[in-house]
Amino acid sequence: MHTSRWCGGGPVRASSADVSSPLEQVFLAAHDDLPREAPGSEETTALLLRLAGDLPERPRIVDIGCGTGPSTLPLAAATGGEVVAVDLHEPFLQRLRTRAAVSGLGERVRPLVAAMDDLPLPDGEADLVWSEGAAYVMGFDAALAGWRRLLAPGGTLVLTEAEWTTATPSPGARAFWDANYPAMRTTADNVAAAQRAGYTVQAVYLLPVGRLLPPAGLPARHPAGGRPRPGGAGRGGPGDRGA
Ligand SMILES: C[S@@+](CC[C@H](N)C(=O)[O-])C[C@H]1O[C@@H](n2cnc3c(N)ncnc32)[C@H](O)[C@@H]1O
Repeated sequence: MHTSRWCGGGPVRASSADVSSPLEQVFLAAHDDLPREAPGSEETTALLLRLAGDLPERPRIVDIGCGTGPSTLPLAAATGGEVVAVDLHEPFLQRLRTRAAVSGLGERVRPLVAAMDDLPLPDGEADLVWSEGAAYVMGFDAALAGWRRLLAPGGTLVLTEAEWTTATPSPGARAFWDANYPAMRTTADNVAAAQRAGYTVQAVYLLPVGRLLPPAGLPARHPAGGRPRPGGAGRGGPGDRGA
């Protein structure tokens, strides 16, 4: 289980049914040129993939709330595996299809319009479940519980989540996040929640502000004491194995 700071706003609830509404058109126009919908970068996706540890030669990956695919495409390219790319918003998946084809990855990227809390996917067939900046839509705990069944034995979940990084936020920050994401917690609380949900938390990593990675070799943040953790990924599912 990977947790990291990001700075998005409130839940994005888009559906393929209302694409033609004026509100949806404004949303699409505003997001048209965005390379991604959540904090992170191709570099941080690559880093998180390394932190996920060993994977089968051609891992089966599910990228939930994939948007236009800023994590989907690097995952497919780096692993040689197949990625089921899930999003509720068909126009994002259309862009992903185009980008995958241009990148020569069309054969290994399968866009799937589906709701993240009702995934039409079989149990136990994913070596890696991935989600950047989307678990908050259904709630962190619900995502941990609901997505665990997807994992093959020894499978790994990697996700990013908005978190408090200080015990004493400014009144303005507190007011903003209380209004927009009242369920937001600290890293330690999220790690504890993952452990309660049956995951072994290997590590966590705090996403850098902006797109830049910290210098190579910079140790990751250690969330709750214990042995040093180089980054974040957790394993769960039937036949869990420890980290
Ligand atoms: C903040 S964006 C992150 C997108 C992408 N992972 C990225 O890093 O750019 C959240 C994504 O979740 C999708 N989404 C929102 N509600 C959803 C739902 N109920 N089921 C599946 N996807 C959903 C949105 O369409 C959007 O693409």
